[in-house]
Amino acid sequence: MGKLDGKVAIVTGGARGMGESHVRKFAAEGAKVILTDLNVEGGRALAEELGESVHFVKQDVTKAEDWKMVVEEAEAAFGPIEILVNNAGISMAKTIFDMTEDEYRKIVEINQVSVFLGIKAVIPSMQKAGGGSIVNISSMNGLVGGAPGYTDTKFAVRGLTKSAALQLAGLGIRVNSVHPGVIETPMVTEGDAIEQIREFAKQIPLRRMARSEEVSNMVLFLASDDSSYSTGSEFVIDGGLTAM
Ligand SMILES: NC(=O)c1ccc[n+]([C@@H]2O[C@H](COP(=O)([O-])OP(=O)(O)OC[C@H]3O[C@@H](n4cnc5c(N)ncnc54)[C@H](O)[C@@H]3O)[C@@H](O)[C@H]2O)c1
Repeated sequence: MGKLDGKVAIVTGGARGMGESHVRKFAAEGAKVILTDLNVEGGRALAEELGESVHFVKQDVTKAEDWKMVVEEAEAAFGPIEILVNNAGISMAKTIFDMTEDEYRKIVEINQVSVFLGIKAVIPSMQKAGGGSIVNISSMNGLVGGAPGYTDTKFAVRGLTKSAALQLAGLGIRVNSVHPGVIETPMVTEGDAIEQIREFAKQIPLRRMARSEEVSNMVLFLASDDSSYSTGSEFVIDGGLTAM
């Protein structure tokens, strides 16, 4: 028996990296998954590989109309939604000196406004399902400082998680945030700073970056009934970095 048997889940940014890993884990645990992304090629290929229990929907998470369409497609394909993983995001290695206003507004839209839109969009469907679990992917930079834009948006996701958790608890909807440290995904490996990051990883208490699957195990716990008494909380997975 899977931990998510019969549950309907949406995973944003599911075409690659950690999102892809969450989609694979959820499908293996018996969920019906709507995987969304701007990356049509990657999203379609993954859905095809995983079969009938996974549907790909092209979505820009910053657009309210796309969220409406995703919820409609999820309900039509599989029924009311019980799980939402707000995973899509971007990083931007800029300083306060060189970041432009347009860049700042862009990262706020993608990393922060999207999470607000996603939570609002799934509430009626989760009410129909009798409750649900929302997992917001923040970062260790939602707990400690880092690059401007990225850090601010990840702190905001942590705050929104708490306010939404308090307001939705009465509806049986739990909301938690996940705070990964350095995870070996394309976001990290395709960046210019990969050699510096590999060097930095040697100083992490556990002496390495994490694999996406390690984060998926935590996301699965939060998505499933195993975490039935957790809401409004922060779940850190950083190899000990923020303990230093
Ligand atoms: N990799 C890390 O070390 C790390 C650490 C902490 C937190 N995170 C967070 O984890 C999440 C996943 O990161 P990742 O490393 O897997 O990244 P990734 O870049 O490998 O994957 C992100 C996915 O999001 C999609 N996406 C981006 N903008 C989108 C939009 N507007 N609409 C829909 N989809 C969009 C991309 O197409 C991509 O498939 C992000 O929120 C990121 O900030 C990553």
